Amino acid sequence: MKVFYIFLSIFLCVTSLASAKEKTGSTEVMSPNKAIKVLVQIKNGIPFYSVKRNQEIILADSKLGFVLKDQPALSKDFKIISAKQSSFDETWTQPWGEVKSIRNQYNSLVVLFEEQSALKRKLSVEFRVYNDGIGFRYEIPQQPNLKDFVIMDELTEFALTQDLSAWWIPAYSEDMDSECLFKKNKVSELKEKMHTPLTLEGNGLYLSFHEAALIDYASMTLFNQGNKTLKCDLVPWTNGDRVVASAPMKTPWRTIQIADKPGDLITSYLILNLNEPNKLGDVSWIEPGKYNGIWWGMHIKTQTWEGGPNHGATTANMKELIDFASKHKLSAVLAEGWNEGWEGDWTVSGNFSFTKPYPDYDIAEISRYAKEKNIGLIAHHETGGNVANYERQMEDAFKLCEKYDIHRLKTGYVNKLPAGEHHQGQFMVRHYQKVLETAARYHVMLDVHEPIKDTGLRRTYPNMMTREGARGNEYEAWSTGNPPEHTVILPFTRCLGGPMDYTPGIFDIQFKTTGSFRVHTTLAKQLALYVVIYSPMHMAADLPKNYEGNPAFQFIEDVSTDWETTKVLDAQIGKYITTARKDRNSSDWYVGSITNEDDRVVNIKLDFLSPGKKYIAEIYQDGKDADVATNPTSIEIRKEEVFAKSTLSIKLAKGGGVAIRLIEAN
Ligand code: NOJ
Ligand code: CA
Repeated sequence: MKVFYIFLSIFLCVTSLASAKEKTGSTEVMSPNKAIKVLVQIKNGIPFYSVKRNQEIILADSKLGFVLKDQPALSKDFKIISAKQSSFDETWTQPWGEVKSIRNQYNSLVVLFEEQSALKRKLSVEFRVYNDGIGFRYEIPQQPNLKDFVIMDELTEFALTQDLSAWWIPAYSEDMDSECLFKKNKVSELKEKMHTPLTLEGNGLYLSFHEAALIDYASMTLFNQGNKTLKCDLVPWTNGDRVVASAPMKTPWRTIQIADKPGDLITSYLILNLNEPNKLGDVSWIEPGKYNGIWWGMHIKTQTWEGGPNHGATTANMKELIDFASKHKLSAVLAEGWNEGWEGDWTVSGNFSFTKPYPDYDIAEISRYAKEKNIGLIAHHETGGNVANYERQMEDAFKLCEKYDIHRLKTGYVNKLPAGEHHQGQFMVRHYQKVLETAARYHVMLDVHEPIKDTGLRRTYPNMMTREGARGNEYEAWSTGNPPEHTVILPFTRCLGGPMDYTPGIFDIQFKTTGSFRVHTTLAKQLALYVVIYSPMHMAADLPKNYEGNPAFQFIEDVSTDWETTKVLDAQIGKYITTARKDRNSSDWYVGSITNEDDRVVNIKLDFLSPGKKYIAEIYQDGKDADVATNPTSIEIRKEEVFAKSTLSIKLAKGGGVAIRLIEAN
């Protein structure tokens, strides 16, 4: 690790004709490869930053600052009093992940602003400029005239210079938070507040705006404030406050990933790099893996969460799933509806117990049996949004996990939260963090549904495995579903934040148990999702009876969830994506390629394989007569000898895909 400091000269010049008070200060910093440049300036006392890439301005002067409650805004009358530059370069290893080693190389610029008026309050902003984008965060240092405060608005802007197209979901929707279908509009057409990651494209430029290390702050949403400028809007508390804080404090990082190709957004690790290193020490107890569970049956309404004749979480059903998991190399089994309290309407008035199993769920026997079969259990804490009820029981709930040697937990926050709080506000950021830290203390890995958005905290807390935070496969069970394009948008948007528990693997595509609901993919595409959507915990979501005897299940059994390398071979947002990943624990590679509503031929160049070596490609592709509407389960499974110089040319059906395992032959 090499760190050195250079003190940048700051240019303070008095504009000749303007009043003597109007001062301009400016300072700049470049990425290690010098392609990206950030310029920080004071204009008439107001701090701005701008961004150039290869000499082209991609963000024009964009404001920085805050509006505070009951005190003057921290936004004007500033001068730059210091600017410190430093460089950093290290390579670190992820304990698990989509890639094993990550290079964290940036140039940093810390600019300290001070008010020239009586209060002389200070505000500092640190910029880290990488070859693949920028992160910046505010720091409010300890100081006499700013102690405890409430942020009413963060003034951060992103002033685009082109009217790019945005892939967006609303920040406030009638549906569950974040569980929406994406829309594509020009920035100038955007009318709503939007969640991040917000990905933009146009004229060969790909940008994604998001944040890193969201701790004790409110989530940043973005809106179009006119003139191609996106502005930050923090998710409020019920009373309208945005963030309650005390100095010294640091905000999360505001991130801008910049790429020429959409796939390069996916293999940018800027958000992880901006998070603090592992705080948990020995994390050898944390294991990625695949799981099945009592889940899909409730969504397609053949089983129930609550007790009764069709109760899903029974001792017998769990034993069947544990047997299946052990036969097919899955590592854990989830039980939803194991605990009392599901009879109600799952709202804040509901009262889930997190310690009392239903009488037909013999937790002691199930955990004994799972242990005998070397299978882990995944506990489930659905809060129904009643956070107070959960927090009251939390310690006891984790003690129960400890008693039964349970090291995985799925949590849930369906429905509205108490008193109109938002899933992405500071109130909930604090709650999710409390659960994460408590889980770490009890050596429990987390899979969070209806979560706070992913800002890369898994680097600091490697027990933060996966989360939902988008519209997953569950919507195929009881809504108009997920059109084929949804999964070719997710990797470039939501998944830039981090792993997603999409719960793929539905084989009975047209299950026809309830109404006209069905899955909107082919079977081969369900397999390809295990590679395309990254998650260290992936579910084999269908019922065991729909897998037994189907040779396509072999792919789910084989596919890894822990990778040494990830490559996006070819992609267009909303159209198709082909991703290759190398297993961490063998020389196998896996490839997934998926398409939207159009059929297409993909040419997969295998030049990532070791040169000169022979591989066997096990290919699971849409059958010749596969059709997402009428014949979605038609699949062709075949083997082919391939080399690094081979190209596989494969036809994907409408809404289809292909999943490939590549095994070194010797
Ligand atoms: C919504 C979650 O996304 C789903 O996975 C879960 O089954 C239900 N809530 C019930 O907790
Ligand atoms: Ca959900």
